Amino acid sequence: MQALEDGPGSEQNPPLFNTIAKDLHSRGYSITPHALPPLLVDSLLQQLLTTPSAEFAPAGIGRANDKVLDQSVRRDNISWITGDSTASRLWLDWAGRLQRSLNQQLFLGLFSFECHFAHYGTGDFYRRHLDAFKGEGNRVLSVVLYLNPDWHNDDGGELVLYPETDCLAGVVVAPAHGTLVLFLSEDFEHEVKPARRDRYSIAGWFRLNSSSALRADPPR
Ligand code: OGA
Ligand code: MN
Repeated sequence: MQALEDGPGSEQNPPLFNTIAKDLHSRGYSITPHALPPLLVDSLLQQLLTTPSAEFAPAGIGRANDKVLDQSVRRDNISWITGDSTASRLWLDWAGRLQRSLNQQLFLGLFSFECHFAHYGTGDFYRRHLDAFKGEGNRVLSVVLYLNPDWHNDDGGELVLYPETDCLAGVVVAPAHGTLVLFLSEDFEHEVKPARRDRYSIAGWFRLNSSSALRADPPR
């Protein structure tokens, strides 16, 4: 158990959290290869691969009642992470520590975290989109952790982040095992290029609390 918590990127290595905060502050996104302890990344992939396929569902677009399935936009299958295994609990704990650190450093007021495993099969993609819309979304910060040992350049499935809304060229990220990406949800359009083999990841969002006395706003 201890071993899962050791290594770069864990509690013993808060410099990673400082780097992420600096990146987010200066340019709104952060990309770190080998960000988490390798054993934790391996364990998360194991958990994903042993999750029964019945627990994966085609991903929708939008939230709650507005959710629609549109396979011309998005074709991944997802399974929400609840923290019911050691690996997922350690991942959620890590995300909680990152949340506290970013709140301290950047005063972001992050309140909760929701995340799911995602599986893109061969040919699957996610067209250019925003994770949250200014004003209405309470998703503030998007996180992706890739779970793909031995990913090769010709395997496709790149994440492309577009720093400017009208720009055609973006920052291209290969979904390599252990690479961690964070970006401001309202500011960065992004897309997932078609994968040429199974592509696994965790996608998550830190959220503000937009509950009010009249409207409960639980995650998802
Ligand atoms: C998403 C998403 C990016 C990726 O799930 O909203 O954009 O690289 N994922 O998997
Ligand atoms: Mn997205």
